Amino acid sequence: MDERKNRGEAPDLISRMIHSPMKDMNQFEYMGNLILLIVGGNDTTRNSMSGYAYGLHSFQDEREKLEKNPELIPNAVSEVIRWQTPLAHMRRTALKDHDLFGAPIKAGDKIGMWYLSANRDETVFDNPDKLIVDRENARRHLSFGYGIHRCVGARLAELQIRVLLEEMAKRRLRPNVVAEPVRVAGCFVHGYRSMDVELSKY
Ligand code: HEM
Repeated sequence: MDERKNRGEAPDLISRMIHSPMKDMNQFEYMGNLILLIVGGNDTTRNSMSGYAYGLHSFQDEREKLEKNPELIPNAVSEVIRWQTPLAHMRRTALKDHDLFGAPIKAGDKIGMWYLSANRDETVFDNPDKLIVDRENARRHLSFGYGIHRCVGARLAELQIRVLLEEMAKRRLRPNVVAEPVRVAGCFVHGYRSMDVELSKY
C-alpha cells in the first residue's frame, strides 16, 4: 500500500484507489474495502469467463455468429453475464411492510432475490436458457443486482470480459470444452469448480 502511495499515480487498480478520495480512509477501512473488492471480483468474473467458454461450446451456432461478427462482442459480454449469472441470489431484510405484486412482505421478513431466476424470466427474455450473442435486451439482466447496492465493480467486470473476448478474437482462438465441467455445489456462487478446455484456431 505504502509503495503504491509513494510511487505516485499509476493506472493499476490499487494505485487508482490510493490516489482517490479513498486516501482519507484509515488503514483498516482501506484494507476492508480492498478485501471487499477482491472477494467481490473473484468468483464472479472468473465464472463469467468460464461461462463464456461453456456457453459458446453449448451453442455452436452462436459461437459461429460471434466469430464472424466480432462487433457483437460488447453485447455478447452482457449476454454471457446474463446467461451465467455468477451470483445466484442475495438476501435482504425488509424494513417495512410492502405489497409486491400481490405478495405481502412484512417488516423483518428475509427476502431472497433470485437473480438467476429473473435472468431466465421468459416474459422478459425469449428463449432464456439459450446464450444468444446478439440478444437485443441482454443488458436488462440483473446479474449485478439492482438499486443502491448494485455491483460497484460492474463496469470493471464488463471490461475484463470484453478484453478477454477481444484478445481471443484478435488471435482467432476458440476455447473447446473437452469434458463436462464440475459445478460448484452451493446456492450462492453459480459457477464451476473445474472445466477442462483446449484452445484451437479458427
Ligand atoms: C460478472 C462479474 C460480477 C458480478 C455478476 C457481480 C455481482 C454482484 C452482485 C449481485 C452484487 C450485490 C448487489 C446487491 O447487493 O444488490 C455485487 C456487489 C459488489 N460487487 Fe460485484 N459482481 C461482479 C464483479 C465485481 C468486480 C470485478 C468487483 C470489484 C473489483 C466487484 C465488487 C463488488 C462490491 C465491492 C460489491 C458491494 C457493493 C455494495 O454493497 O455497495 N464485483 N456484485
